[in-house]
Amino acid sequence: MRLIVAITGASGVGLGKRFVEALPETVETYLILSENAETVFAKEQKLTLLDNSDIAAPVASGSFRCDAMAIIPASMNTLAKIACGIADNLTTRAASVQIKEQRKLLLAPREMPFSPISLENMLKLSRIGVVIAPPVSGYYADIKTLEDMEDFMIGKWFDLLGIEHNLFQRWGEER
Ligand SMILES: Cc1cc2nc3c(=O)[nH]c(=O)nc-3n(C[C@H](O)[C@H](O)[C@H](O)COP(=O)(O)O)c2cc1C
Repeated sequence: MRLIVAITGASGVGLGKRFVEALPETVETYLILSENAETVFAKEQKLTLLDNSDIAAPVASGSFRCDAMAIIPASMNTLAKIACGIADNLTTRAASVQIKEQRKLLLAPREMPFSPISLENMLKLSRIGVVIAPPVSGYYADIKTLEDMEDFMIGKWFDLLGIEHNLFQRWGEER
């Protein structure tokens, strides 16, 4: 599987980092960090770190073959740009490509509370098939620590992207 992951400048960039770290080796990952997501990532196997200002990178083209793109966390700024069709950096350009090519795009918007503008942007994107999956915890999966909570969210995103995992206990199932 080929996956584009973008981390934007919302609170919770560490969650995006853990999401990338939890990806199985079988997932070929192209990582974009927004200028505001000042997290440094070590270059790992199957991880290609991209420059958010490089709009000529392969993932900016519809001819780049990939299975899905996830933006975790997604700032309200990036969400608004994508909802308006603005493609002014590699993250927003790759997202607009996913939409035009009718490929899977998952956004994890992080804000509290959401403004009516952000809610409208999310509804607009949801109606065209974008998966809106904010970092919201469940309370049934034997969650005791912050790490358990993050594993639950990451596991839910993996489910939505079709990535196998064993990050949380499923309701009514043994782990
Ligand atoms: C410490 C800090 C925390 C922030 N948390 C959020 C947040 O949770 N959600 C959000 O939408 N913006 C948040 N922002 C504001 C965004 O970083 C800002 O809107 C920025 O323009 C986003 O740019 P980007 O979408 O290119 O990453 C935060 C900013 C700072 C400095």
